[in-house]
Amino acid sequence: MKNMTLIGKTGFHYFCLFTLFALLLNGCTAHPVKHRMIELFTKDWHFYLGDVTNGQDPGLDDSQWRLLDLPHDWSIEGNFSKENPATPGGGALPGGIGWYRKSFTLPENEKDRKVFIEFDGVYRNSEVWINGHYLGKRPYGYISFCYELTPFLKYGAEKNILAVKVDNSQQPNSRWYSGSGIYRNVRLVKTEKIYVDHWGTFISTPEVSAQSARVVIRTRVNNASGQDQTIKLKTVVLDDAGKNIAAVSDESESQVYADSVSEIVQELTVKNPSVWSLENPHLYRAMSTIECAGRVYDDYQTVFGIRTFEFSIEKGFILNGKQIKINGVCNHHDLGCLGAAVSTRALERQLEILQAMGCNGIRTSHNPPAPELLDLCDKMGFVVMDEAFDMWLKEKTPYDYHLDFEAWHRRDLQDQVLRDRNHPSVFIWSIGNEVVEQWNKQDSSGLMIAGELAGIVKKLDPTRPITAACNDQDPSNPLIKSGALDLIGYNYAQNKYPDFPKTYPGKRFIATETVSALATRGSYDMPSDSIRRWPVRWDIPFTTGNADFSCSSYDNCSAPWGSTHEETWRIMKQYEFLSGMFIWTGFDYLGEPTPYGWPARSSYFGIVDLAGFPKDAYYLYQSEWTNKPVLHIFPHWNWQAGQQIDVWAYTNCAEVELLLNGQSQGTRKKTGNDLHLSWRLSFVPGTIKAIGRSGGKEILSREIKTAGKPSKIILEADRNKIAADGRDLSFVTVRIVDKEGTVVPYADNLIQFAVSGAGRIAAVDNGLQTSEESFIADHRQAFHGLALVAIRSTESKGRISLQATADGLEGSSLTIESK
Ligand code: GAL
Repeated sequence: MKNMTLIGKTGFHYFCLFTLFALLLNGCTAHPVKHRMIELFTKDWHFYLGDVTNGQDPGLDDSQWRLLDLPHDWSIEGNFSKENPATPGGGALPGGIGWYRKSFTLPENEKDRKVFIEFDGVYRNSEVWINGHYLGKRPYGYISFCYELTPFLKYGAEKNILAVKVDNSQQPNSRWYSGSGIYRNVRLVKTEKIYVDHWGTFISTPEVSAQSARVVIRTRVNNASGQDQTIKLKTVVLDDAGKNIAAVSDESESQVYADSVSEIVQELTVKNPSVWSLENPHLYRAMSTIECAGRVYDDYQTVFGIRTFEFSIEKGFILNGKQIKINGVCNHHDLGCLGAAVSTRALERQLEILQAMGCNGIRTSHNPPAPELLDLCDKMGFVVMDEAFDMWLKEKTPYDYHLDFEAWHRRDLQDQVLRDRNHPSVFIWSIGNEVVEQWNKQDSSGLMIAGELAGIVKKLDPTRPITAACNDQDPSNPLIKSGALDLIGYNYAQNKYPDFPKTYPGKRFIATETVSALATRGSYDMPSDSIRRWPVRWDIPFTTGNADFSCSSYDNCSAPWGSTHEETWRIMKQYEFLSGMFIWTGFDYLGEPTPYGWPARSSYFGIVDLAGFPKDAYYLYQSEWTNKPVLHIFPHWNWQAGQQIDVWAYTNCAEVELLLNGQSQGTRKKTGNDLHLSWRLSFVPGTIKAIGRSGGKEILSREIKTAGKPSKIILEADRNKIAADGRDLSFVTVRIVDKEGTVVPYADNLIQFAVSGAGRIAAVDNGLQTSEESFIADHRQAFHGLALVAIRSTESKGRISLQATADGLEGSSLTIESK
């Protein structure tokens, strides 16, 4: 929820606006009082990798522990090894136990406040103590949680010690890379004794028309004052700009009883609402003020959107009355070389890259995401399927959440829904991915659990449909049989889509997971029209792949349970009732290196590689999913003389002519259900050029030249100006080019980076799935001519200068402003 991340410039801006606004409305407060104080609590934690006896002891000397800022993922700092218990499936990086401690003081005049600590996610088995008092344990590594600290705090000069033990030692506990540590944000929240409870609002819009929207606001008010109170809850809705008041609730009085939580339901009407849509994701803010005995006790903001949607039996997904195909992707939570440590900018970059492809949906496979991801999807316009679990009672890996499911699933699922239900981007809840219980036709466990989980979700949020990602799409699947699924979620099985209306008459469809095509950026196996289904079987080692552990990027390699990109999209685009899909996956992720084993340690499924460089299939989707002119040709043009080379084009131009060294190789048009154009040429060095035309007019042209020897380095930053907040990132693409400036497709030079000024290297990568180089380094080999260096700002303003050098190459440098 946005209100929980009210930090940084925008947050401050809104806070000031709101304080001013509260003052104007109340008119009775002499000076601005901060009723709710939200502090990002991420700086200066002491960290120790390993177990510590009585690590929670306030008297323990932690001065020798490493000092760091959160979010932090210790696994990403380690070395790849196939001996690591996570296995290559879990990313082949170390796990273990780690301790974090932070000391802080509180002013005497805050003694009357309530103080809470909020964690967005700790992987995993976190245990938290304040001043030696045990606050609790949360096994699930993806859940957000909060503890009250008030009774155990010290004030004045005395120090408080917050200690967190993180235990990710029992592995494997995940089918992908999890990361380890306090890898998401932490906040210290201070309120008065009458306050809006944690995740305490739920806003829905049951009636929306062009003229007006009925907005229902449920607010849980916690009265910890020790006495019954009469309060006034006032809710004001502000528009996108945060300036104009769209609506104000009534201010009638409510009784809130001592030491209890009361829910107050308010309704208001927003006239001529600006709806939240994918093109214009308009956000409203509800500002709730609690007044008691003439003074303000709390101010709380909730970001929400006004939109209508429906999953129609015949027409698929309809948003604000408009039929839209959900062209989505699944992503795991890691951010490539940055590991699991959450970074708003790294998430934003991923979403920008995906949005430029035409992608409009995200599935948070297979767990609750970082709240920042949902904030970004709200702002940028993505449809989100918010998923809870990858397993229920039956294991997928020996130490995974199945061990905790019985004790924790109610709490975890409830917390996920409470946290996420105001996000306008969230449209679907998924209660599980390919849970093993779906195969239990003889016992009723799958049926019972599906019903129970759906009940938990529906009680807290009756406004969104529930699905589960099923790889058994038969009506005998107990999850489907349970009737708990509003949307029948298909994982794969695209050939069964056309029969869906017959198999499930009157039901609604979503392709929860599709494709699982495999590719290594810049690798091409010919002939391009022979399709590899790798591995041969999921349960036996795969030994017949490429010697270099690559997969071809011609969209001619896929997992046997999946399909090529074209195979699924061809079917998906044909039928209106198919509401959309989530492709496995948008980005490559650490772990699950299908089809290979070690030394492969990251996935091949991404449309974009681990470093954020698009693979060729990216342009297939761009040509189909966007209206901008697209012409992408591949492969590179460095082959053996006489070799038969397939040249492909993804385009939305009406026709494309291909020329080799100036000579036309023919003009091609897509016919039938073609999704690409191709030419088979006998290789001669030189230039291939494609000219895309529509209505006889040239729209676009593209050229690829035979590259000569690596000659120099070219640097290009995605942003040359970043914020001096110690968190912002500039992602710099490193290209190895020949003397003409053509990227050398085979270049693998070792590049050395040096950074000076107001930044430092956050991580490096090249997208190679088998690289065992560490991500946390000041050097990286290029892979197929490219590498990436992510530069993080410090808190000092100034210039950051980056230098890149390599033996035998002309170096390069670049300046980034940090403000
Ligand atoms: C699916 C599964 C995903 C991933 C994918 C790889 O069956 O839901 O988590 O493992 O296969 O193809």
